[in-house]
Amino acid sequence: MVSFRLSNPTEILFGPGQIAALPELLPADARVLLLYGGGSIKANGVYDAVVAGLAGHAWVEFGGVETNPVYETIATAAELARASRSNFILGVGGGSVIDAAKFLAAIVPITTGDAWDALRTGPAPTNVLPVGAILTLPATGSESNAVSVISHAGRHLKLPFANQAARPRFAILDPTTMKSLSRRQLENGVVDAFTHILEQYLTYPVNAPVQSGFSETLLDVLIEWGPRLIDDNSDEARENVMWVANQALNGLIGAGVPQDWSTHMIGHAITALQGTDHARTLTMVMASVLRSQLDAKLSILARYARRVWKLDIADDRLAAEAGIAATEAFFARMGCPTRTAGLDPVAVVDHIEMAGQFPLGENGTIDADIVRDILRRAAEELA
Ligand code: NZQ
Ligand code: ZN
Repeated sequence: MVSFRLSNPTEILFGPGQIAALPELLPADARVLLLYGGGSIKANGVYDAVVAGLAGHAWVEFGGVETNPVYETIATAAELARASRSNFILGVGGGSVIDAAKFLAAIVPITTGDAWDALRTGPAPTNVLPVGAILTLPATGSESNAVSVISHAGRHLKLPFANQAARPRFAILDPTTMKSLSRRQLENGVVDAFTHILEQYLTYPVNAPVQSGFSETLLDVLIEWGPRLIDDNSDEARENVMWVANQALNGLIGAGVPQDWSTHMIGHAITALQGTDHARTLTMVMASVLRSQLDAKLSILARYARRVWKLDIADDRLAAEAGIAATEAFFARMGCPTRTAGLDPVAVVDHIEMAGQFPLGENGTIDADIVRDILRRAAEELA
């Protein structure tokens, strides 16, 4: 195992009705900026429950955070935060809103120069405002991790920013808020969480039986409960998927192990170019990434096929290939595409280049040529 430091200070409140605990979670002197997206929280009652919990505090609201949140919009929210002397950011929504809340908390104190550049290239800011999260869409794990993925409209870039100081102080996960999610968003949530686990699990063998075993358990739960969520949207399915999605990307299964993330970096480029839902960009390319990297990942792919997909195949290569095919079939079962369409490989490579993300992969061996090969496979009917 690689040495690691792990601190996840986000207090999780999980279960129906937990939004009512908001008053006891906010600092007494909190002047709150309530951040939300396109209005789903007004239609499903979450907004009213949150506003009730803000009684007694000075607060302002900023709605309209986009799916794949945009820097320019968050910069406008920062002006409101400064003008209202807000000292606490409360994000209410899916990964986009919570990512935006964390990024906003980091840029409010930056009053000179370009905040995007400061966060990209400068030292990690230490004067980040405290953040709270109320999650309404399980997928990203953003509610208790340090990452914001933000799009810069002017520069046509979609980049991840990591800042430990922006991790939410608390995260409220009420599975009943998921009742109003569309089938498409439920599908997206399941496959995004699934892919987060694979990016941390499907690398090369290290002595990490705790991380590998927990990853396999999380995958088992998604394979059983993902389809049930889509078909029935039952209480049990909502609870199980919401908790898996959190555990998949809160830092635990990735501690001390190599990580890949090439599928995600290619996926972010596809969203920047085509506006595709984040989760669907991942299912478009993941099987092609795995086929391209079959030799490097052979041992773990064979284990994945046997332990997660219960495939009784003695030969490692045949098992690995069958495990990849099973992954693709699961993505298709979840209503997601497993091939790209109309994508310009040159533009994808350019995006990864501009983002400074080459070389990709757990071994740092995925260069522009290999990304082109991955995209060629992903564009073909039979990769
Ligand atoms: O904007 P509103 O009106 O809230 O509607 C949203 C949006 O249209 C809607 N929605 C959310 N909760 C709902 C609901 N509709 C009805 N009922 C509810 N309870 O769902 C739509 C999608 O929401 P969004 O937040 O965009 O989805 P998601 O949670 O999948 O987040 C995607 C973003 O997270 C980033 C992605 O790149 C993308 O920008 N990621 C963040 C990560 C992180 N912080 O660690 C990691 C991920 O890999 C990912 O990159
Ligand atoms: Zn993701």
